[in-house]
Amino acid sequence: MSETREQMLEMAIARLPRIELGVRPTPLEPMERLTNALKGPPLFIKRDDLTGLAFGGNKTRMFEFSLADAKAKGAEVIVTGAAVQSNYCRQIAAACAKLGLELRLFMVPVRPRDRKEVQGNHFLQRLFGAKVTVLEKDDWGERWDLIQAEADDLRKSGRNAYVPRESDTIDLDAIAYVEVALEIVRQCRVMRIEPAELYTAAMDTTQAGLVLGFKFLGVPIQVRGFAPFPGMPDRHSTMADMANQAAERFGIDITVSESDFDSSEEFVGERYGYPTASGIDALETVAQSEGILLDPVYTSKAMSGLFAHIRAGRLDHSKPIIFLHTGGAPALFGYVPEVMPEIGEAPISKFTQATIN
Ligand SMILES: Cc1ncc(COP(=O)(O)O)c(C=O)c1O
Repeated sequence: MSETREQMLEMAIARLPRIELGVRPTPLEPMERLTNALKGPPLFIKRDDLTGLAFGGNKTRMFEFSLADAKAKGAEVIVTGAAVQSNYCRQIAAACAKLGLELRLFMVPVRPRDRKEVQGNHFLQRLFGAKVTVLEKDDWGERWDLIQAEADDLRKSGRNAYVPRESDTIDLDAIAYVEVALEIVRQCRVMRIEPAELYTAAMDTTQAGLVLGFKFLGVPIQVRGFAPFPGMPDRHSTMADMANQAAERFGIDITVSESDFDSSEEFVGERYGYPTASGIDALETVAQSEGILLDPVYTSKAMSGLFAHIRAGRLDHSKPIIFLHTGGAPALFGYVPEVMPEIGEAPISKFTQATIN
């Protein structure tokens, strides 16, 4: 039964326009040293930080569908934007370079240093040739208005501008993660593991796709999403809408509802884009036990949620847990003072001396 559903999903995905940009399938690996350190259930990691394309991440898979849609509609210029240290914008910059598309980015400075410094993802966006505008203030509404105005101006001047993630195409990003659900189910079968839960950093398309995929396949893996933004009370219904839109595009007969989504803001901390102490602790622990880099804004906070649940005894130790790594490590280079305050702002001479002693 399940394998028939898998083939149905595979065929539905194969019918969609797609441009190959990344590396699939990504590995599903055990984290033995981390499992031992936390004394919890067996921990596995799905390495979507290894999807290729400009240091990888969850967006590689999404652009295979959304930029295929842009190309099919004759797009010449892509207009979008997010936070200055956005992984989405780093990866779309690489994808646009590869596909010969012009890219204009409107970027929100989340921290004061985001207006002064060109580092990490921001540096890479520029290196890939994107035209980057950094806003004066941390104003997401203004960013959206500027994106729309830029796209309108381009269209008036006769250029074909495409804005990704509009309401009629957002499900294309979710579809990428329906495919990941399928990938995970097949990998678990080969590895003979039956995970109970999947933890990940997510606020919209990633979780929408995973939940739809597991539900369609009848696989009882509970997705636990950790949102990077506080104050998004509607995200459960937004994700359900995206998933249902994806199901409709696929032509698969399934409906998901808000209650299918488990999404927590508990580990965001003060604000979006500001690392937390527990997130930095998780980031260092994973780096030093597994040689894997998390990021300061998304995955470290989700991992701190997993650590907290293990320490609180909330998880059944007989059932494996998967952590889906959605990427983001290039942002680390823009976050040295927050991640390692003892060296972050120190002059090099002081750091060198401290290291030698
Ligand atoms: C590293 C990382 N993880 C998770 C997410 C969340 O993905 P989604 O918007 O699909 O929920 C993002 C989004 O930018 C991200 O960069």
